[in-house]
Amino acid sequence: MVIDSKQLKTLFLDFFTENEHSLIPNSPLIPEYDPTVLFTPAGMHPLIPYFLGQPHPLGTKLVNVQRCFRTGDIECVGDSSHLTFFEMLGNWSLGDYFKKQAISLSYDFLTNKRWLNLDKKRLSVTVFAGDQDAPKDLESFEAWSSCGIPDDRIYFLSKEDNWWGPVGNTGPCGPCTEMFYDTGKPACGPNCRPGCSCGKYFELWNDVFMEYNKTPSGCFEFLKQKNVDTGMGVEHTAAMLEGKENVFQIGAVRPIAQKVEDLASITVPDDVQERSIRIITDHVRAATFFLGDERGVKPSNNDRGYVLRRLIRRAIRFGRLIGIEQDFLTDLADIVITLNEADYPLLREKQASIFEELNKEETKFKRTLEKGLRKFQRIAENCPRIDGKDAFLLFQSFGFPIELTKELAAEAGVEVDVTGFNNEYACHQKVSAKSATKLFKGGLSDASAETKKLHTATHLLNEALRVVLKKKDIVQRGSNITPERLRFDFNFDRALTPEEIVAVEKLVNDQIKNALPVVREEMSVQDAKTKGAQGVFDDKYGNSVSVYSVGGFSKEICGGPHVENTSELGVFKIKKQKGIASGVRRIRAVLQKCDQ
Ligand code: ALA
Repeated sequence: MVIDSKQLKTLFLDFFTENEHSLIPNSPLIPEYDPTVLFTPAGMHPLIPYFLGQPHPLGTKLVNVQRCFRTGDIECVGDSSHLTFFEMLGNWSLGDYFKKQAISLSYDFLTNKRWLNLDKKRLSVTVFAGDQDAPKDLESFEAWSSCGIPDDRIYFLSKEDNWWGPVGNTGPCGPCTEMFYDTGKPACGPNCRPGCSCGKYFELWNDVFMEYNKTPSGCFEFLKQKNVDTGMGVEHTAAMLEGKENVFQIGAVRPIAQKVEDLASITVPDDVQERSIRIITDHVRAATFFLGDERGVKPSNNDRGYVLRRLIRRAIRFGRLIGIEQDFLTDLADIVITLNEADYPLLREKQASIFEELNKEETKFKRTLEKGLRKFQRIAENCPRIDGKDAFLLFQSFGFPIELTKELAAEAGVEVDVTGFNNEYACHQKVSAKSATKLFKGGLSDASAETKKLHTATHLLNEALRVVLKKKDIVQRGSNITPERLRFDFNFDRALTPEEIVAVEKLVNDQIKNALPVVREEMSVQDAKTKGAQGVFDDKYGNSVSVYSVGGFSKEICGGPHVENTSELGVFKIKKQKGIASGVRRIRAVLQKCDQ
């Protein structure tokens, strides 16, 4: 029997729930409390607070399927394996079992007749070779040996291959062990081994042994508990199980690529057409999931919206390259929704707005694409380097994301002055010239004592604004907290008066003086609602949510971390306020040691 992606997901979840793991929900693509990434990059990402020691409401053994997006892979799409958007299966141990049991569970799922039933003789694995940060992983070696994997199919590799994390610069990380399946293709040379890109070894699964925390100074210290984090790419593994050459051929993706071929009247694509077809397929699939996310994103020139815009515009340009003249994004999005609505019903519910946004973006970009491409050609013909001013002109007047200009330039064999572009951008937009992947919104930069204080202060500010401005429906629209300052965005349509600023500061400082305890409780979503907690009610962890109360003053759904008592905070001071979008204001504030 051929196992497709749907069956693979069912089998994985069944196997681990039979092995006493609790099924946790698939979190939104847009993370709530992590400013270091724009999108959920792996199944482990929403679980970071639990690797650090916070108890998870559903226990110490968890399993799920998680939608993921990797911005860094946008330009890799087109080969046989890369997708920017994909689903990942994972099982987790939060201070529960460790290497031996994790490996034995993986081996059982892969080879047992009841599950994937893969040929044991074709399995090989890699384990961490050890370095100055962590020892050689002999425990994993032993565990694989006792499953019956012979020594010559266990490879010791360096950190480059066998280490995972942290996401961002600091946080949980550790050595990993990866599992590979021999496709039977001949080895590409004497050094061909698991991890080689020639296609002989098919990567199946990655078990990470997360026992370290990378600190801001670059040291690896032990975490409070030893965790296991595993990841199996659904599309990738399905390709192998379905006997397909690549991820674009599997049942869950092929209908999108087929539609692209039909729209372009291509029957047997050549290599260049094939790349375009894959890019369009991947990008429209990802764009549909962005727009249909619980915390949906819209195309814009900032952070997440910018990544979405890049994907859509790139898909349109590659559509044009293979001769698609008509609007095509919604036709493809419809197929994406049909293929995924059983697992993601919100996609169909949000269909109208998904289509509307795609249509708007397609209309806007198609108006300028032709002219912009002509302009680009004229510039590129006349000089070997596109300067910052021209790159900015292409961006501002023709809607070309800088990455598109770079890509066109690479094709034309000319260079682009990206620094010059960034300077122009900063100058014109009066915003910092950080690249889109560096811009972020929402969340904490780390879990340091200073950041925790500012996080608790953010809860106080959130409530104080509602009280002082006498507007109950003020909600957080974003937050970003570093050890130095907090930034808080909220819905309000005018500047605060100086008196209001003073009143907000006073109200927050009163709560600090009152030395209020900060208490965390687990409760049902319904209870949280009834008790008037602020926050997003998205059933992220089943029916149970974590709620932080600051005395009787504030109550918010939140993943933490916070201080224990407001007396630790110091003196709260608003430094700046400004409007950042229509109806959205931003406040920057700090905590001072004394009233300066
Ligand atoms: N977090 C690990 C990965 O994404 C399992 O590969």
